[in-house]
Amino acid sequence: MAEALTLFVLSGMLLCGLLLCTVSQHGASVEKPRKRPNFIIILADDIGWDDLDANKPGEKANNTPNLNLMAKQGLRLTDFHSPASTCSPSRAAILTGRYGLRNGVTHNFAVDSVAGLPLSEVTLPQLLQTAGYYTAMIGKWHLGHNGPYSPTNRGFDYYLGIPYSNDMGCTDTPGYNLPQCIPCDEDETQVFRLKRSLHEGCYSKVGLPLIENISIAEQPLDLWTLTERYRSTAVRIIHTAREQGQPYLLYIALAHMHVPLAPPLPPHASSTTHHPDDGRVYAASLREMDNLVGAVKNASDVTDKDHTLIWFTGDNGPWEQKCQYAGGVGPFKGTWQTSRGGGSAKQTTWEGGHRVPTVLYWPGRIPANTTNSALLSGMDIFPTLLSLAGITPPPDRRYDGIDATNILLYGEQTGHEFLFHPNSGAAGSFGDLQTVRRGKHKAFYITGSAKACGGATGRQQLHDPPLIFDLEHDNAEETPLEAGTPEYQAVAESIARKREELLWDIATDRSVSTADYSTDQSAAPCCDLRQAVCRCRKLG
Ligand SMILES: *[C@@H]1O[C@H](CO)[C@@H](O)[C@H](O)[C@H]1NC(C)=O
Ligand SMILES: *[C@@H]1O[C@H](CO)[C@@H](O)[C@H](O)[C@H]1NC(C)=O
Ligand SMILES: *[C@@H]1O[C@H](CO)[C@@H](O)[C@H](O)[C@H]1NC(C)=O
Repeated sequence: MAEALTLFVLSGMLLCGLLLCTVSQHGASVEKPRKRPNFIIILADDIGWDDLDANKPGEKANNTPNLNLMAKQGLRLTDFHSPASTCSPSRAAILTGRYGLRNGVTHNFAVDSVAGLPLSEVTLPQLLQTAGYYTAMIGKWHLGHNGPYSPTNRGFDYYLGIPYSNDMGCTDTPGYNLPQCIPCDEDETQVFRLKRSLHEGCYSKVGLPLIENISIAEQPLDLWTLTERYRSTAVRIIHTAREQGQPYLLYIALAHMHVPLAPPLPPHASSTTHHPDDGRVYAASLREMDNLVGAVKNASDVTDKDHTLIWFTGDNGPWEQKCQYAGGVGPFKGTWQTSRGGGSAKQTTWEGGHRVPTVLYWPGRIPANTTNSALLSGMDIFPTLLSLAGITPPPDRRYDGIDATNILLYGEQTGHEFLFHPNSGAAGSFGDLQTVRRGKHKAFYITGSAKACGGATGRQQLHDPPLIFDLEHDNAEETPLEAGTPEYQAVAESIARKREELLWDIATDRSVSTADYSTDQSAAPCCDLRQAVCRCRKLG
């Protein structure tokens, strides 16, 4: 017996060749690469479940061929949730592995926010950087842009991107938005008149800046060349990292699919023409995003693909009030809510708000052409990548993400036993954990809607006892279980108990942070105060 085992171990070691192999408790040979893996996280903005073709195999859509290929060569997660239903909280939770009630980020930062993700929080790039990784970020940060809060002070060696959302500043040639934004140069009275007539939509005072490391590289930036800049920078980073032989983290937080959209379109289509509701602009923008993903995958494929994990996901669901410029929720319609008025995607805890398309790719490590329906969250990226890199997170704080390594690499099915979806303002106080998943059940202690296309909203409502849906039979969240049935009782009791436990756990966590959400005009990024819209003067 012992001999057989030794032989098995030896043959396993021979089989693994250059890899260091160990034997797991099941006796299976588990490869532990001596080389630490590279990580590429691609986070799409406001992407809908339905935007990924691979999520709707019956249909003929062909907007995401590169992502479809990645899914075919990798893993598609079908019950993966953004940690929140709006930008800043979702991003903070991804980078810290903690709920907003712990990391302090419970709603979005503004153009003139003084601070950002609390400095007491430890970030994923920081831990990887300390462990010898090269860390680079491209794209939308939205976790504070001043001094110590900027990406290069939170763990990134390099940064190129927009400090917040791509609609939080004017540009000279606006992209597609609803209401349509006006160019930076329009005079004040016209801006005022237009803004009043449109009620809301565009932030026009400060030109949208492009930041490199800690400096403003361009203000206002050119939305129409941004994708190409991101693409070439990403490809350069991947190649340079390869040449230097250093493991790397590349976090690409795309401007896609957040409005304004600025996709390449046939020449006759002008940027300011208001298009009919034919989805053409959105589809072109999806293809542009997918092409960028393809370029990143290609660069990884020709450099170090056996040691590179690519993790594509979204920060929250689609922004429904943007109508034809918003993505789709697919089957996750949130019918209980929409039948009472209002939208059920971004800014809500209905499935459309946080169930996001997610594809992972790691040739040779993640089995190809697989799907997994384990209940997972963007908060799991933090512990999973650290585990794959052999890094133990600091023990002085509590984490909410789980290490999903065995789900990704070995097809295990067990994800979160409970997963909480934080309120995002559409209902209740920011960050509160009043929607809970357990298995196929989902309980709401509070419901609320975001604005639908057309502007309608539903009323916020408290539920005691909670509304409980069975997502397996009712993924549209249409008809709640009847209260008082044994099934309902069992779920309600376990969820209530777990919620109490979690709130107690957070209350006794000595490393809970509080974000400073104060604003000051001088905190807005400004290239030149003397120029209108803070415009950077052209050199030469
Ligand atoms: C940004 O930082 C990187 C890495 O430190 C450096 O190579 C690059 O020159 C910097 N770029 C700018 C514009 O400062
Ligand atoms: C990626 O590489 C494949 C194969 O070489 C090529 O056909 C494809 O056009 C490339 N895609 C992108 C987006 O660069
Ligand atoms: C991928 O999986 C699907 C569904 O299991 C199967 O129909 C298809 O043939 C597979 N494709 C490849 C290339 O293995």
